[in-house]
Amino acid sequence: MSIASAPTNSTARSHTAPEFAVVVPTFNESANIAELYRRVGIALEGTAWEMIVVDDNSPDGTADLAWTLGRSHANIRCIKRVGRRGLSSACVEGILSTNAPYVAIIDGDLQHDEAVLPQMLAKVKAGADIALGTRYAGAGSANAGFSAVRAWGSRMATKLSSLIAGQDLSDPMSGFFAVRRDLIVDVAPHLSAEGFKILLDLVVTATRKGTRPAIAEVPYTFRPRHAGESKMSPIVVIQFAGLWLSKLSGGVLPTSFLLFSMVGFSGIAIHLGTLWLLNTVVGTSFLPAQFGATMIAMTWNFFLNNVLTYADKRLKGMKMLTGLLMFYAACSIGTLANVSVAALLYNDIAQMPLVAGLAGALMSSVFNYAVTRIFTWR
Ligand code: GDD
Ligand code: MN
Repeated sequence: MSIASAPTNSTARSHTAPEFAVVVPTFNESANIAELYRRVGIALEGTAWEMIVVDDNSPDGTADLAWTLGRSHANIRCIKRVGRRGLSSACVEGILSTNAPYVAIIDGDLQHDEAVLPQMLAKVKAGADIALGTRYAGAGSANAGFSAVRAWGSRMATKLSSLIAGQDLSDPMSGFFAVRRDLIVDVAPHLSAEGFKILLDLVVTATRKGTRPAIAEVPYTFRPRHAGESKMSPIVVIQFAGLWLSKLSGGVLPTSFLLFSMVGFSGIAIHLGTLWLLNTVVGTSFLPAQFGATMIAMTWNFFLNNVLTYADKRLKGMKMLTGLLMFYAACSIGTLANVSVAALLYNDIAQMPLVAGLAGALMSSVFNYAVTRIFTWR
């Protein structure tokens, strides 16, 4: 049976297919979501639109609220994700769940001005691949929504982003934009699930695939958060650094590997610090001090990877304990690999201690990354 001849009943006919889907990633936005729905409804009066809330199992009941709204309003629904976290992946899943040919992403905390949604829709319908809400061009502004430090950080990130985006964007960090749905369908398999910066990822990925997206900008004023708390944190900033480096490497090095390596470097500092403390300050003899320092550095690495590298797969409770033990085991085997590779190079090939040491360290970091990715954070 062809799709066109699929039977329709009166219910299917009376239900208008949406032309424009507004995707709202949420984590603890229960105090904002009804107001956002109301305001978007006013802004998009006359358009066949729907709202898709993608909630990562918020403890404040955001999903229940969205479902309740959906019982009396047919154009709002909610995808509740369990056991996963992440703004970018939430946006992608929301977009992939709709039939609407045009989609927008908007934050759930009313910081983005929904009144410009019709302008964004008009731009993508007129042929732009992406209509980007910008705080830094034309009449746009971010003053009210930002502290001085955040404003500076945002400007820095904007500069770094232009370097990899392949075109000048006034606000590559924007979490507010409209896009043709099929563009996302095309690039979705190549987007990083981690992190906050879906727009930048989208532009870089589409450009690398050979379709440099045409971007129209729509200025708006960034407002202060309506209620609740921001999820922006130092972790998010480091994750951005990882994404940036990954895109700079042409995607050859995955973000998670880069973050894993950064964690590894910090572990070396922890290791040396502890060793010094135990050996020099406390007076423990070298071998037990070295053993203690190794255990502490491994533990440090595990917990940091758990909140940073694998924030989207964070282990909790019992799983965290077994994960930690597995991590110790993987790292021990990794150390064996490290020492054997270094010894082989040093003894049989060339007596260059630094080269041999570096090769050994590289060997164990790739090994640990691969193994813990399969067994610890799967
Ligand atoms: N599903 C899901 N999962 N949603 C999330 C998650 C998550 O892990 N983390 C945050 N969100 C939701 C929030 O509930 C909110 O609706 C939206 O994503 C933005 O999060 P905020 O915590 O309000 O971020 P912000 O205001 O600090 O950052 C905003 O401005 C930045 C510009 O500097 C966002 O729009 C960023 O994308 C943007 O880059
Ligand atoms: Mn916000």
